[in-house]
Parts: sequence; C-alpha cells; structure tokens
Amino acid sequence: MSEKIALLKELKAECMSCTTCRLHKGDSKVQKPHVFGSGNVRAKIMVVGQNPGFNETQKGKPFIGAAGKNFDKFLADILELDRDHIYITNTVKCYSPKNRAPYWDETDACRHFLRREIEAIQPKVILALGNYAAQYFLKKTGMKDLHGKKVWSEEFNVYVVPLYHPSPMNMNKPVLKQATTDDFIKLKKMLEEMEDEETSATIDSDTDVSRV
Ligand code: URA
Repeated sequence: MSEKIALLKELKAECMSCTTCRLHKGDSKVQKPHVFGSGNVRAKIMVVGQNPGFNETQKGKPFIGAAGKNFDKFLADILELDRDHIYITNTVKCYSPKNRAPYWDETDACRHFLRREIEAIQPKVILALGNYAAQYFLKKTGMKDLHGKKVWSEEFNVYVVPLYHPSPMNMNKPVLKQATTDDFIKLKKMLEEMEDEETSATIDSDTDVSRV
C-alpha cells in the first residue's frame, strides 16, 4: 500500500470517530454524520465543498446528490474527466442538523482534517465550491467577484479557484449556470497551462543536468 493511501486511511479512521464538535451527534434523521473525502489520491484537482448533506451520509461519500450530479456533468462535458481523476471532499466532514451552514467554531474544529488531506494529496489546484468553501480558503466573500479566478493560498500552498456551488438552486438560474460553464472553459485552459509549465520545468532541469 502506498504511503499516501496509508496516511489517508489513518486520517479517515480518525475523522470517522471524531467527537470534537457538536456536529458529531447528528440529528433525528442522521446518526452517523461523518463523511470523509474520496477519489484519486494522486489527483491534481481537489474539489472542496461545504459539508455533506443527508444523501452523502447515507452513502458515505461527498457530493453524491443532485449537486454532485450537476458537478459531474460540467466535469465530463467540459474537462472530459470523471470522479476517477479527482479527489473530492468538504471543509467540514459532518452533516449539520437541518442542513444549516456549519458554524465557524465547527469549521475550525475540523480544519486540521482538510489541512492534512491537502498535505497528503498535494493537488495542483483546489476547486472551492460555493461561498462557504471560497471564504474558507480566501477569507473573502462575494462569489460574484471571486468565481473563476485562480488565487494562490499561502496558508495551504496551492492555487484555489472558487466556483459557484453546483446545487440545483444555483444551476437552475441561467445566469449562474452560464457563468459556471464559462468558468469550466477557463479552468480547462488553466489546467493545460499548468501542465505545460510542469513539462517545461522538467525539460529545464534535464538541460541543467546535462550541462553539469
Ligand atoms: N454540498 C456540499 O457542499 N457538499 C457535499 O458533500 C454535498 C453537497
């Protein structure tokens, strides 16, 4: 087993038994509210949402409801990728009663899990889905200005691109759906450029070696 997988398995086990904040108690509908990240541990793209909803708690995987299906369609239609190419997780690992937004003390209690997940995966770019995740990384609100722009996060040492949350509530609005389509088209270009930079860095270092 690779070191990465071993690390993530350990982290998942720790997360699944976490009782640090009030969210671990669930509610009358959900007794097991914890949902850890899933996907390709070698992914260059890491996707981060807010926190799991009811459907996710039933399957134990992030974004398997309607929002996840909308996201998968953008991923397939524009980036020509599927879940096997990405790693997907949430800022907060527990479902919250009545699907309310997590309180910031709950988010802070959970922060070390996402930080360690990012350190293990070492993605090239993080897609922050929705205002909550964007604020988490960039300490700014206002998706109108933030969406589709690549920003370096000093805290996490990685580029972050905020996108509108793919919830049906957002994606049924033609303006937000079109903005998200445009953002994915931009993202495809960004990813190609990142790939090119990586390739040219490899050639440069080869050249240096041959000169020694
Ligand atoms: N919305 C989120 O932000 N995360 C999920 O896992 C599901 C829906």
